[in-house]
Amino acid sequence: MGKTRTPYFELKMPKEVEITYLDNAATSYPKPAEVYEFMDLVYRSAGVNPGRSGFDLCRVAGDLIDETRELLCRHFGGTDPNRLVLCHNATDALNLAIFGIVRPGDHVVTTKLEHNSVIRPLWTLQEDENVDVDWVEFDGAGYVDPTAVIERLGPDTRAVVMNHGSNVLGTVQDVAAVGKACRDRGIHLIVDVSQTAGKIPVQMDDLGADVICFTGHKSLMGPMGTGGLFVREGVEIRKTRAGGTGVRSADRRHLDEYPYRLEFGTHNLIGIAGLSAGVQWVNRIGMEAIHAHEMALWQELRDGLSKIDGVTLYGQGSGAEDRIAVLSFNVEGFEAADVGTMLDVDSGIACRTGLHCAPMLHEALGTDTLHGSVRLSLGPYNTLEQIRRTLEAVREIAELGARRRSS
Ligand SMILES: Cc1ncc(COP(=O)(O)O)c(C=O)c1O
Repeated sequence: MGKTRTPYFELKMPKEVEITYLDNAATSYPKPAEVYEFMDLVYRSAGVNPGRSGFDLCRVAGDLIDETRELLCRHFGGTDPNRLVLCHNATDALNLAIFGIVRPGDHVVTTKLEHNSVIRPLWTLQEDENVDVDWVEFDGAGYVDPTAVIERLGPDTRAVVMNHGSNVLGTVQDVAAVGKACRDRGIHLIVDVSQTAGKIPVQMDDLGADVICFTGHKSLMGPMGTGGLFVREGVEIRKTRAGGTGVRSADRRHLDEYPYRLEFGTHNLIGIAGLSAGVQWVNRIGMEAIHAHEMALWQELRDGLSKIDGVTLYGQGSGAEDRIAVLSFNVEGFEAADVGTMLDVDSGIACRTGLHCAPMLHEALGTDTLHGSVRLSLGPYNTLEQIRRTLEAVREIAELGARRRSS
C-alpha cells in the first residue's frame, strides 16, 4: 500500500513498447496478435460457462475446450484427447500429478535442476508423509546423467519426477533414457515440460513419460492461467480434489473418468481460447523454425558474453545441442540483481535475476551466495539487433566492475 502504481490505461500497446524483453522463460511476451484477438472474440461472442448441455452458446464454448484438448493431444503425440487434462498452470499440473501418484512411505527420485513447483510438493511429502526423496546432482555443463537417476531406482520407487528443460541453464535432459528404465520397472515418470513445450518436440511416447506437465503461457504462446497434464493410458492419478464438472451432476462422488477426474470447477475459457490460438500459431510458424531463430540468437549471445572479461556463464559447456535458448551468467563485482537493475534502467533490457525458483540448482552452482544469476531467455520476437544491444550493455557493466576493482 502507499506505492504508486501505473494506471492500466497508461500502459502502451506491445508494438510501442520499447523494452528488449528477454524474460521469455518466465512468460512469453508479446503473444502473437491472433492470441489477443481470439481471446477478445471468444469472450465477447461466447463468454458463457461451457458445457455439454443447455443452450447453444454453452455448447460452442464446450466445443472450443474439446478442440483445444485435441490440438494439445496431437501436439504431444497422443491419440486420446480425454487424457489431456486442462488446469491453471504447470504448478497446478505438477501438484495434481505428484500428490495423486506418490503415497506415504514411497521412494521418489528427482534432480537438483528442478523448479520449486517440483521441489516444494516433494519436500512437503518428504517432511509430512515420510516419502524418501533422492535429489540427483547435475554436471558442470548442466546435464543430469540418466544412469545416475536409474541407479537410484529400487523396489520402493514409486516415481521419477524430472525436468525436461532447465529454466535457468536451458539444458535439455535425456529423459528418454530414464523413461525406458522406468517403463521396464513399472515406475511412474512425471516430466515437467514447462520450458520445452512449444520450443522443441515433446512426444509422450518418445520420452517414455507417464505424465507430462505443461504450462500454456510460455512457448505454447498462450496466456497466463493455462496449462495442463497429459496422462498416458493405463496410468491412474488419485483425485486430490473434488467438485463440479458440469457432467453427471447427480453423482455425489467426483467422476473417475478422464479428463473430468482431474478437472474441477469452471474452466478458464478465455485462457483456453488464447492457448488454442497460441498453439495454432506455433504450428503454423513451425517449432523448428522458431527454435532455429532463437538458437541463432542464443549462439550470438553466448559467444559474445563468453568474450567479455568478468562475465561467468553457467552450464553452457556443451554448445548448442540439447538445449533451449536460455542462459545464465554473473558479472564480477556485482550481485545478479544489480546487473538486472542496470540493464533495465540504463538500457531498457528486461531480464530475470535471482534464484529463478530453482534454489537447489543455485546451491549446486554456488551462485546462491551471489543471490542467484542473471537469466536471459529468448523468444520468437527477439532480434539480432536486441542481442547486440544487450551484449553492449553487459560489456559496459563489466567494464564498470573492472574500473571499480582497480580504483
Ligand atoms: C521448469 C519450470 N517448471 C515449472 C514452472 C511453473 O510454471 P507455472 O508458472 O506455469 O506454474 C516453471 C515456470 O517458470 C518452470 O520454468
